Amino acid sequence: MNAFSYSGQALFCEGVALAEIAARVGTPSYVYSSATILANFRAYDESFGDMPHTICYAVKANGNLAVLRLLAEAGAGFDIVSGGELFRVLQAGGAPSKVVFSGVGKTAAEIDDALAAGIFNFNCESEPELALIDALAHRRGTRARVALRVNPDVETDTHDYISTGKLAHKFGVDIAAAEGIYERARKHENLLIEGVSCHIGSLLLDPEPLMEAVDRVLALIDRLRALGSDIRHADLGGGLGVAYKPEETTPSIAEFVKCLRQRLTGRDLHVVLEPGRSIVAGAGVLLTKTLYRKNTGHKDFVIVDAAMNDLIRPALYNAYHEILPVRQNNSRRIRADVVGPVCETGDFLAHDREMADVMPGDVLAISTAGAYGFVQSSTYNARRRPAEVMVDGDLWRVVRERESYEDLIRGETI
Ligand code: LLP
Repeated sequence: MNAFSYSGQALFCEGVALAEIAARVGTPSYVYSSATILANFRAYDESFGDMPHTICYAVKANGNLAVLRLLAEAGAGFDIVSGGELFRVLQAGGAPSKVVFSGVGKTAAEIDDALAAGIFNFNCESEPELALIDALAHRRGTRARVALRVNPDVETDTHDYISTGKLAHKFGVDIAAAEGIYERARKHENLLIEGVSCHIGSLLLDPEPLMEAVDRVLALIDRLRALGSDIRHADLGGGLGVAYKPEETTPSIAEFVKCLRQRLTGRDLHVVLEPGRSIVAGAGVLLTKTLYRKNTGHKDFVIVDAAMNDLIRPALYNAYHEILPVRQNNSRRIRADVVGPVCETGDFLAHDREMADVMPGDVLAISTAGAYGFVQSSTYNARRRPAEVMVDGDLWRVVRERESYEDLIRGETI
């Protein structure tokens, strides 16, 4: 679903004009559509039907408490990668029994907190990590459920920084070495080694590599079971992409799950998925105000009040985000770079973009910004991080206040 659409000249999020939010909350501000978040989660959940499954939303994509609460109430589990994300999930009322803990560098303190909370499963990425979880579980007099994250060595067509499924990457263990590791891990008496996990990368527009990875994981599960391992669940990670550009296409969540189901039917496995982007990306925009127009003699610039500290994806991955005026004042088009106030040439939100002819004061919506937007923001240039707003039908509320100058220096001493 697309909750962001024009009614007359005004761009709406569900039943709320974005201009109203900008006027009341100021800019830059993130705005999220609760209906979109829920629809995307339900598309995953319902497409699995009666196949045993848990959709563990990847908190890293957007960890706002209101987003987590919405998903927790809808029955989601959570994929966390740090003690901080566990804290957020618990604060939001998420069920620890539906939490999986991923990540290549879990600390002893983080593992211990997760054991104390009683999470469902640790996705382990190395033999030393298995040994550490075993020791910490022993100290607590409990048994920890673990899955080994295997690296299925498949090629993905995504940005190098977010591809994870090749042997050159730091993630998981070589799938070819997995049987030996499962065999050795059996000596750890405080581990329940009941799963296999993988995650091959993010922003996969073509799900074919993921299906190839699933086939390899299923073949491994067959071999492990033949060797006597009691494998009960397969965690297939996240990664389904979203269309950032109008001309891009990607399968719908329902189509994607259908492909997965075809492979998983009859396998007697509880399936776990860890989607992040595909649930929240399209549910969010970043509102920003035009400050100046400027022509250097070479180029047109639209200077706005959001910057790389608010949304780093263009600067970091050369990512494309559609930019729409929240009020269509005229039909003239311009070609310009959209840039922020940060003192770096890398501070841009769009390069050489054909877009609406905007004037100082006009508010713009930077689209598809609900995932990896606010969570990757910083206070670089001593800029306060933006407010976050949640829309629900005709209602909206601030779910995170804009930072204050006091927030910027909290904890510092002279
Ligand atoms: N599970 C694991 C183990 C992951 O590492 C990730 C993402 C996910 C699940 C969720 O993947 P998703 O469904 O969101 O694709 N900052 C980058 C994306 C980094 C993704 C990191 N891992 C961006 O802005 O594109």
